[in-house]
Amino acid sequence: MTPDIPGCASPERSMADASDSLHHLLGLEGLSAAVLTRLLDRAEQYLGVGVGDVPKRTELQGKVVVNLFYEPSTRTRMSFALAARRLGADVLDFSPAGSSTAKGESFIDTAKNIEAMGVDVMVVRHSSPGAPHILTRHLRPHVHVINAGDGAHEHPTQALLDLFTIRRRRGCIAGLTVGLIGDIAHSRVARSNIHALKALGAHVIVCGPTTLIPPQVAEWGVEIAHNLDAILPRCDVLNLLRIQFERQRGGLFPSIREYRLLFGMDGARMRKAKPDVLLLAPGPINRGVEITPEVADGPNSAILDQVTYGLAVRMAVLVEVCRSATACSVPDSVKTTHQR
Ligand code: NCD
Repeated sequence: MTPDIPGCASPERSMADASDSLHHLLGLEGLSAAVLTRLLDRAEQYLGVGVGDVPKRTELQGKVVVNLFYEPSTRTRMSFALAARRLGADVLDFSPAGSSTAKGESFIDTAKNIEAMGVDVMVVRHSSPGAPHILTRHLRPHVHVINAGDGAHEHPTQALLDLFTIRRRRGCIAGLTVGLIGDIAHSRVARSNIHALKALGAHVIVCGPTTLIPPQVAEWGVEIAHNLDAILPRCDVLNLLRIQFERQRGGLFPSIREYRLLFGMDGARMRKAKPDVLLLAPGPINRGVEITPEVADGPNSAILDQVTYGLAVRMAVLVEVCRSATACSVPDSVKTTHQR
């Protein structure tokens, strides 16, 4: 890998600048190539930690990490929990079902009550864009907030694991052409990917039905396409986004059948793509809609690698925020008497 090109591995630089470490990870918008590269480099060190004979680590020993998930999740939630445990943290898991949310407790009150138990990191997923940002204004300053997906806004750790997968497979992100295919309008994964891919020097094409590409995309410095077949021969990577039925008000495309015909990745389209095209999908996948089973499970697919790499990426992010400058300022109310 080439150290000095954005998006390529650079272990030397990753060790160097601890001073600009992140106290929270709310999004990838505005993060520099240096910070993104540092996170990806750090993730390399956590690959395989806690698996088989490789021992767990202790970087988060004594820390409490809370998963505060107000929306369904399989991968992100379990990945954060396992990542935190493999670093030695205690992990709490909150979901609104069966909690005091059912009695009318607000998001902020719930978070502040959990925080009062002595929490170091809150990993937040919420349907409202900006919910994790709001939490940072209500929680005590020593608590780190990580955005695990806020509405259609951002999903920074998913995009980081996408980048990590690309970098592992291709060595470098700069100069690649990456197609984000499908429901761009409702995809937080697309937004985070666009910010980071551009920062690291990739050319980004967003491709989908006109109704699923918001007009402001034109300001994001990406190429816009509506014909997947036309862009396939140019793409090094295709990230196949799920149609976010739960966020749509309906009528945005005529039918699933038509979507599949125009934008579904199948064997015939694979023959139009570069032979080594890398296929990503954040999951869950709608088999037979955005991707056919034989393509999802085929040799170009890195979908399960993404899940594996997600653990290392989340370990890196947890360590990054916990090492930030203000991380040690535990408030008096949660210190033991001998700590005061
Ligand atoms: C994504 C999400 O929830 O935003 N999935 C995930 O985190 N693995 C994408 C999606 O739901 O389509």
